Amino acid sequence: MSILPILEAPDPRLKVISKPVEAIDAALQTLIDDMFETMYDAPGIGLAAIQVGVPKRLLVIDLQEKDEETDETIRIPRVFINPEILEESEELSFYNEGCLSVPEQYADVARPARIKAKWLDRDGREHVEELDGLLATCLQHEMDHLQGILFIDHLSKLKRDMLLKKLTKMRRAA
Ligand code: NI
Repeated sequence: MSILPILEAPDPRLKVISKPVEAIDAALQTLIDDMFETMYDAPGIGLAAIQVGVPKRLLVIDLQEKDEETDETIRIPRVFINPEILEESEELSFYNEGCLSVPEQYADVARPARIKAKWLDRDGREHVEELDGLLATCLQHEMDHLQGILFIDHLSKLKRDMLLKKLTKMRRAA
């Protein structure tokens, strides 16, 4: 496995619309493993293939929530291939989102609180599930990447430009 470089805004490749995955083959399995390693290393809770420069409709999520009793981090790696949203609630939920492609910048984004989604896992099995909470938010954020949309695109232009400016400043200082 290897850690892949993560594209950062305003890299134009992040605006590319990703293409459906046609074959769940050995090369795709390697990419999935590398994406998990890259995400855990960053660290982050979600990563879309386009963020490592691969324009395929593939994303990985692991919320890495803490077990309240043992304080241990529980890893539940989830793979979403060709995900689709079938239904979404009118009710919105706000979450202070961040993104590995917009490092260290955060902003509240409103999204449907519950969704019904369909996807294939890494074994090619189809799932249709209703999701809510952080998983629903995270899946919608990652699915946006497949359409070339970043969380900052949900903000006003003023706010977006401010975050991008802060990012440039941070890079210069580094
Ligand atoms: Ni992101």
